[in-house]
Amino acid sequence: MNEDLTILAIETSCDETAAAVLKGSNTILSNVISSQVKYHEKFRGVVPEIASRKHVELIGPVIKEALSEAGLILSDIDAIAVVNGPGLVGALLIGLGVAKGLAYAAKKPLICVNHIEAHILANFLENEDLKPPLVALVVSGGHTALVYMKDFGEYEIMGETLDDAAGEAFDKVAKFLGLGYPGGPIIDRLAKEGDPAAIDFPRAMMRAKNYDFSLSGLKTAVINYVRAERAKGNEINVNDLAASFQAAVIDVQVAKAIRAAKEKGASRLVLAGGVSANRSLRIRMKEEAEGEGIRVYNSSLILCTDNAAMVAKAAYEMIKKDPSLIEIDAARNMDANAYPVLSLGNI
Ligand code: KG4
Ligand code: ZN
Repeated sequence: MNEDLTILAIETSCDETAAAVLKGSNTILSNVISSQVKYHEKFRGVVPEIASRKHVELIGPVIKEALSEAGLILSDIDAIAVVNGPGLVGALLIGLGVAKGLAYAAKKPLICVNHIEAHILANFLENEDLKPPLVALVVSGGHTALVYMKDFGEYEIMGETLDDAAGEAFDKVAKFLGLGYPGGPIIDRLAKEGDPAAIDFPRAMMRAKNYDFSLSGLKTAVINYVRAERAKGNEINVNDLAASFQAAVIDVQVAKAIRAAKEKGASRLVLAGGVSANRSLRIRMKEEAEGEGIRVYNSSLILCTDNAAMVAKAAYEMIKKDPSLIEIDAARNMDANAYPVLSLGNI
């Protein structure tokens, strides 16, 4: 395999329209992200139909910009990568359709990437000493999970949320308080000025002997607290509320992530997904895990939230593990269950 191959990646799973070009293992030639936040914020949440329509408008210019920033044209690219799930189906279909079209027109191989795997692998773009095995805490607007990564392509979901995702809880609490969208960065900012011990919110499933999470009860506890205080005529200290809510989310995540790493004997823990941009989560996880001899990795903020550089990285590792994904060759003997490689034939 050519270790320096260039991959054009596309990401449209939610409300960011993104394209990136990666050269080799970790040289990001371009990483273009067009956020649709301004179209969704008046609804204080992502509206799937709007997301799909905006992806249609933005995907062409975003891909063009990613190629031109990289100083390349489509024919220079070795492979095209695209997220095909999990995500909003209508939104995913836009990226997937465009990727198929480009691959067909330019006669390039197409690699389909799992969005969660891409979030985890974002950490490998900037941390050259990072390697599996590791435990990843994946916390985003759509997912909350603890994943054991034994090796590239070998993942085990140890636990996940039984209801709301972590980012969803931040967004819903912010929405209830009328703070704006997306709620995570706003609550993060307000919490810096607040007291995390001011209000004793529940730490759901903290002591449960599994790796699952539950966040909808916490959201309800915040709503009930605010209503009760307002009924008593008390002013709400939004900074204290933000800090106390955030601490309740983070306490459980830190405790369970460290326990999961210890169970697997993993000395590395990675933080992935949009919520891993949270300042307090990063600090607390580092402080507590490093006391247990577990090294914590995270990435710069632009690679935590949805982007296509992480998608290209995931595709790169898939190709490295299985070069036949792009170097289709004739096989004398073939397992009857051999998965047909995504080639022009099945586009
Ligand atoms: O990974 P992402 O961009 O999209 C999904 O795959 O869902 O994550 C977006 C989520 C949103 O819910 C947003 O509120 C949250 O990440 N988020 C944060 C922070 N920055 C983004 N949550 C807490 N603290 C932050 N600093
Ligand atoms: Zn995501």
